[in-house]
Amino acid sequence: MYRPHKETQQERIDRLTQEAEKRVDQEGTAEPYTLERFRKTMFSKLRKVGVREFDDHHVQLVNYIVDVYEVVQVLQLRAPNQETLDKLTLVLDKLQEYTVFHFGEEEIFFEKIEYPHRQTHIAQHKAFVARFLEIRREIAAGRPQFVMDLFFAAFGWLFDHINQHDMKYSRYVQDNPKLLTSLRRSPPKPRPS
Ligand SMILES: [Fe+2]
Ligand SMILES: [Fe+2]
Repeated sequence: MYRPHKETQQERIDRLTQEAEKRVDQEGTAEPYTLERFRKTMFSKLRKVGVREFDDHHVQLVNYIVDVYEVVQVLQLRAPNQETLDKLTLVLDKLQEYTVFHFGEEEIFFEKIEYPHRQTHIAQHKAFVARFLEIRREIAAGRPQFVMDLFFAAFGWLFDHINQHDMKYSRYVQDNPKLLTSLRRSPPKPRPS
């Protein structure tokens, strides 16, 4: 009787990593995928929205995603021990806190500039946070293999959300230069301490 091959956890991690590598670097090389190369590629692909505070936020978000990737690499090499799990919790807490902060600041900004597509954009923020929390619950329930899903959610959000959807409000601001004047009077908060 035909039985479909059930993917092992290691095979799944290998497959997802290969997919991540392809998404970051379409050219692909035989070089090992080091953390530093990942960081460089992420920053080279990150687009600027032209609102200084939000560009700074996006840089910080990339840094936190790279921190998550660092732990993901350790989880690929060996079974998780307490130290790795503690580090994972720490990097995910930081990414979560900063993401919620950043979304909140963008949403306040959308109200101020009366951005016409704000409802769609805010719905995307909400969906991402819901997905993030759902995967964190899986990890907390003792299934650290879900860290790859979380890494993908964060990583996918970065490229699809910032580079496409945030760029839409960027164009709206560029097309309405007066909005930048009102923004300068009350800039978004820098970052939580
Ligand atoms: Fe953003
Ligand atoms: Fe956004």
